[in-house]
Amino acid sequence: MLRPLFAFVALVVLSAPAVAQDKPADPGRDLVMQKCAQCHTDSIWRDQRQDARAWEATAYRMMARGSIWTTDEVKTMAAFLGREFGPDVPRAKPQQR
Ligand code: HEC
Repeated sequence: MLRPLFAFVALVVLSAPAVAQDKPADPGRDLVMQKCAQCHTDSIWRDQRQDARAWEATAYRMMARGSIWTTDEVKTMAAFLGREFGPDVPRAKPQQR
């Protein structure tokens, strides 16, 4: 009776690493997901394109708005944002309605 449930749980547990490998581990991504979502969703910044330095400036603006981060955290997040949301990265296509 419980066997299908065990099979399902095993499937989920065993497939988790495969899902995680979808994108390589990136401490910058983890930090951004964890920290930037505390006050607003990513919809406020994900369409923006700028280099790491400008993202760093954005992060410091967020600190003026109340976030508390170390210099290392800011640099790690800015490096990730500059890579994934840099000036040469195409914007996401508008959603089809
Ligand atoms: C302490 C809360 C807080 C955190 C954490 C935070 N933000 Fe913000 N952010 C704000 C507020 C408040 C606004 C202004 C919202 C508005 O105008 O409606 C804002 C606006 C923005 C804007 C648009 C206005 C601007 O100044 O550029 C961007 C881009 C942005 N945030 C990016 C980020 C990123 C990237 C992170 C993570 C590195 C982050 N935020 C984390 C509070 C925060």
